[in-house]
Amino acid sequence: MRIFLDTANIDHIRQAARLGVISGITTNPSLVSREKPADYRATIEEICSIIPGPVSAEVVVEEAQAMIEQARQISTWAPNIVIKIPATAEGLETTSVLAKENIKVNLTLCFSLNQALLGALAGATYVSPFVGRLDDIGHDGMELVKDMVDVFTHYQLPTQVIAASIRHPEHCVAAAKAGAHIATVPYAVLMQMIRHPLTDTGITRFLADWQHLSEQQ
Ligand code: G3P
Repeated sequence: MRIFLDTANIDHIRQAARLGVISGITTNPSLVSREKPADYRATIEEICSIIPGPVSAEVVVEEAQAMIEQARQISTWAPNIVIKIPATAEGLETTSVLAKENIKVNLTLCFSLNQALLGALAGATYVSPFVGRLDDIGHDGMELVKDMVDVFTHYQLPTQVIAASIRHPEHCVAAAKAGAHIATVPYAVLMQMIRHPLTDTGITRFLADWQHLSEQQ
């Protein structure tokens, strides 16, 4: 399973990039607005220059023709842009047009297997089930991830599943076990994935023992 970072925060992207474990970025209008960018395009272009892998930028219109036009524009910003399109009828129409133009689509706000299947059939490169938001309403978000992976594998559909709306490290473990191709994680969750108290106490003890040894010599 690959790890994407789910953020539009440039500092976090730079810090995570240094770890060498991030192969893509996902953003959405809420994440971008949190950063209050002076220029949306410049922000996305900067992200694309930091991370050579896929960078998802979302359309912010609802009607198919408007989405298609906005997606075509955004796709010229950088070679590694992926367009996030919502899982609606208008979004499917948009996806099928963009796919024929070799513009990569991440079908977002996916909450059912049917939405994901239709997205795959329309030619989406990625579908993004929102795990945390399903959990929030008492459903099992990770069960949906597993179902999508199983169905895509069974029918040999090339669309990749991005486990999104990841809220904690255990979601990442479950996404990997469910066979998700990618988990897109907030920066705080990435940090939580690294940390373990036994690693910290282990380092402290090793360094103390080493210090003790050097004091005896
Ligand atoms: O990638 C989708 C993600 O940003 C949504 O996360 O936490 O707003 O449900 P959340």
